[in-house]
Amino acid sequence: MKPTIKPLLHAILCLSAIAVPGVRAADDILIADFEGPDYGQWKATGEAFGPGPSRGTMPNQMPVSGYKGQGLVNSFHGGDPATGTLTSPEFAIERNFINFLIGGGKDAAKTCVNLLIDGKTVRNATGPNDQPGGSEELAPECWNVEEFSGKHAVIQIIDQATGGWGHISADHFVQSDSKAAGVLANPTREIVLTKRYINLPVKNGGPKRVLTVSIEGEAPRYFDIELADGAPDWWASMDVAAFRGKKATIKADRLPETHAGWEAIDQSDEIKGAATLYQEPLRPQFHFSPRRGWTNDPNGLVFYKGEYHLFFQHNPYGWSWGNMHWGHAVSKDLIHWQELPVALYPDEHGTMYSGSAVVDWNNTAGLQKGPEKTLVCIFTAAGTSGFGYPKCPFSQGIAYSNDCGRSWTKYANNPVLPHVAGDNRDPKVIWYAPGKKWIMALFLDGNGFALFSSNNLKQWERMSDVTVPGCGECPEFFEIALNGDKRNTKWVFYGGNGFYLVGKFDGKTFTPESGPHPMQQGNCWYASQTYTDMAQEDGRRILIPWGQIGFPGMPFNQMMGLPVELTLRSTRYGPRLFANPAKEHASLRVKSHTIEPQPLKPGENPLAAVKAELLDLAAEIACGDAVEVGFNLRGITVSYDVKKQELTCQDKKAPLQLVDGKIRLRLLVDRTSIDIFGNDGRLYMPMGVIVPQDNLSLEVFAKGGSAKIHSLQVHELKSAWPSQ
Ligand code: FRU
Repeated sequence: MKPTIKPLLHAILCLSAIAVPGVRAADDILIADFEGPDYGQWKATGEAFGPGPSRGTMPNQMPVSGYKGQGLVNSFHGGDPATGTLTSPEFAIERNFINFLIGGGKDAAKTCVNLLIDGKTVRNATGPNDQPGGSEELAPECWNVEEFSGKHAVIQIIDQATGGWGHISADHFVQSDSKAAGVLANPTREIVLTKRYINLPVKNGGPKRVLTVSIEGEAPRYFDIELADGAPDWWASMDVAAFRGKKATIKADRLPETHAGWEAIDQSDEIKGAATLYQEPLRPQFHFSPRRGWTNDPNGLVFYKGEYHLFFQHNPYGWSWGNMHWGHAVSKDLIHWQELPVALYPDEHGTMYSGSAVVDWNNTAGLQKGPEKTLVCIFTAAGTSGFGYPKCPFSQGIAYSNDCGRSWTKYANNPVLPHVAGDNRDPKVIWYAPGKKWIMALFLDGNGFALFSSNNLKQWERMSDVTVPGCGECPEFFEIALNGDKRNTKWVFYGGNGFYLVGKFDGKTFTPESGPHPMQQGNCWYASQTYTDMAQEDGRRILIPWGQIGFPGMPFNQMMGLPVELTLRSTRYGPRLFANPAKEHASLRVKSHTIEPQPLKPGENPLAAVKAELLDLAAEIACGDAVEVGFNLRGITVSYDVKKQELTCQDKKAPLQLVDGKIRLRLLVDRTSIDIFGNDGRLYMPMGVIVPQDNLSLEVFAKGGSAKIHSLQVHELKSAWPSQ
């Protein structure tokens, strides 16, 4: 809590920054509250503390809270790289406690507050943060100094750290005979597990606590969480079904002495909020999104025995990115998804970053037990961002399942590919039949990627390197038939943003022949992946991207893009990828409206009578002498500038050529997106946009001249979720 008005006495005592040591403030003795323009008798060295107290959050700093009054010590002057010290004048210890507020970095030597007596540090405190993310909130701290009564002391605030969380904040040092309502260091709770989930209340944007959940006989689970101290925005759930009857010990790094959320942690057989699951107002109706928490990249897209597996980067405990786990869902048709328990938890090698999955048909890894083929996930352990374990560089590991992906075991000798360069990550593995070997495309650093090979998924050898100008992260590498001719194939390589190279591959080296070409023109597409092991599906190449779309007010955030089928087709510019919705999507159609071929004059709208929320619209329009043609779909305009041959939606523009004076459009409208496909997939433009809920109107228009509708069909769609 940040009081807006300080007690008058403090204001009088502190006309300059610092109270006179030894002056009584009621029962307490104020040492310093940093309300003045400078540090008074405190001495600063270096740059980090600036010329005087800061007035709260500084440029490029996350919001600072929890300090008293207007001013505080904040060593973020010059950002994290700056260093310095701030030392109080000497004062006599006249009370049993020194109470103060502290925040920032957690390094007992480099970002800390010390109490020095006779030049020796007798007490030490730090902020709570030693991981990316975290919180700039100051929290109460208390030193018991009874044993030093009558001695002379100084307080020294130190910032000698230059990296992430290389700063410290502090405020309001008071001598007192009562301990400040303080912070509990490492409070624990024990729960005997009788139900499926441990429920944890989350307040988005609240202070982050680091929690450790230790279950007898299991590796501890570490994560940070904005644990709600009051009404939660939503409840995160940890699946503990496998540990029924065992004791779970939950430990927090620190918490205020009373914390409603800590007390509220409980267990249940259904996730909290299950009654309204998939009925949330912004829940995408035919794009996958996790039940709760954050998602980003799709991972491990593999097809086995009629099931499409979709793993996904997942923060089960937060609405924002962090704590990367692999969430998991399965579908028989790419449309209806069932979310399964988390597949991969962070471990001593790091949190679980992106990667891929394969079916080990020939048991090359020797991990098969029983009749089912082994499914193998190849993932990045992002060493440096794990809690609770020593820092280590990023490496690649594997996990396997012998029960169709229902349970996962990490390989005992991970990593299978130790650190190579930079934050190397996102292994995409494919089987290369001509060489009877596995091939891994791996992102190294910058625009650099490398290809590795292996006979057994456990040992990898670097074969060659690939550079994709303007592109990093999440490589994809596959062979694809040109114009559907399986005897005439090309290889395609691309990374996170989809800039792709078309070329050839000799089993060792990829040689680009053209590119990079943009795969898509939307505003929300990133980090896509395509399915492996699709031989039974005629080798079709199905891609799912991350849909980078925020879901304000929802207990989940971000979604997967629409599953699309990629094809490589000859164009007058050379071979290019085309994308079209996976054919299964048609199964969601419940009612279709066909508009007869007809002229389209300015002011006319043959769609005026159609009203629908979820739509799949296909049109062929001859542009005639119109200047602009297009659609207004529930308040969102998709318009085509005939002269420029350019399509616009929101702030995105993309070229779309007239073919015999016509354009073809396929537009799919969900609650938070419009997927746009032009000219049979030559234009692929997924748009993240929150579609106005109460607007169900549709319009097709021509402006500045007349066009002609050649064909126009509007399909109303049903939700893909079972409860709708
Ligand atoms: C891409 C990415 C990957 C990484 C993952 C972490 O969005 O940055 O490179 O593996 O997200 O969540």
